[in-house]
Amino acid sequence: MKVIVTGGAGFIGSHLVDALIARGDEVVVVDVLFRGLRENINSKAIFIEGNVCDYSVLTAAVSELGGVDLIHHLAAINGTKWFHEAAAEVISVNINATHRVIELALEHDARLVIASSPEAYGEQKVMPLSEQSEAVFSPAHLHQRHSYGASKYLDEVAIQHAVRSKDLDGRIVRPFNAYGPRLPSDEYGQVIAIMLAKAKSGHDIEVHGDGQQTRSFTWIHDVIEGMLLVSDQEGLAGKAFNLGRDEEISILDLAERIAALGSAKIVMQGSYHGDSTRRLPDLTGNQLISWRANTSLSEGLALMNNEL
Ligand SMILES: NC(=O)c1ccc[n+]([C@@H]2O[C@H](COP(=O)([O-])OP(=O)(O)OC[C@H]3O[C@@H](n4cnc5c(N)ncnc54)[C@H](O)[C@@H]3O)[C@@H](O)[C@H]2O)c1
Repeated sequence: MKVIVTGGAGFIGSHLVDALIARGDEVVVVDVLFRGLRENINSKAIFIEGNVCDYSVLTAAVSELGGVDLIHHLAAINGTKWFHEAAAEVISVNINATHRVIELALEHDARLVIASSPEAYGEQKVMPLSEQSEAVFSPAHLHQRHSYGASKYLDEVAIQHAVRSKDLDGRIVRPFNAYGPRLPSDEYGQVIAIMLAKAKSGHDIEVHGDGQQTRSFTWIHDVIEGMLLVSDQEGLAGKAFNLGRDEEISILDLAERIAALGSAKIVMQGSYHGDSTRRLPDLTGNQLISWRANTSLSEGLALMNNEL
């Protein structure tokens, strides 16, 4: 199969590319290297360094492959600090990139899978998050955190519209706090990698807010398995899948478990505005693809700890 992976130098995208190459697909990675790394990219993939918002970059990817059957769209500005510090850029990239890949998929009659997020539900407090859950966004003057979640929500709207009005074969996946090797650990990175790096180096582990907010962490290879099932199966246009594990842990408990792996102590910090208090996936819809995230947090943390 001829596959374009946008954001294929990033954390999830690079693991997806590895899996696609391993099963014999021809893959072009399009990434602007805003956050992804060249060294993440599988050497058997063709790499185009460029902006997904630029349609000519996407058509160059199609030319490299001599056509396209499937587009996995993961390019986005991810990382909580960016949502606050670069809200306009987050909105612009996340929405325009999705518009461009929808156009590309329609022009080439290709299947499109986009990476949305549980943040598309905003600060919804009723758990688990299901296809019936409403998105809840706080007033924009308070903080701009939802530049990300609201842009993902609008991406989902755009996909659903194109499915209905233009017969797009578009599918949506929502990874729930994926973690594993290559997860960024700098200050713009993601929580497990940041905490593990601090534990290893003996620096304090920061916990934001009261630490009682929970997350459902999902091992990267489980997420990739789910993405492949979503992209391979026929008849899933307009369907969305919560690719998450229903094992909830508070951020404080997580910090304590990770601190115990090294010699770090925990310090409490101010909360991030707009941080959701819980994030638990409803998994009913995943029966369609017979998928569950089987790797427990204990197993995943041990695997990741050994990698670092
Ligand atoms: N990591 C998670 O747990 C998680 C959860 C929910 C949703 N997602 C979504 O999954 C996707 C991948 O997430 P990730 O954690 O791998 O993030 P990531 O930042 O590692 O990967 C995103 C990639 O997109 C690239 N990119 C950004 N803007 C671009 C542009 N204009 N043109 C081309 N490339 C561009 C970045 O350089 C990066 O390599 C994102 O869409 C993200 O919103 C991730």
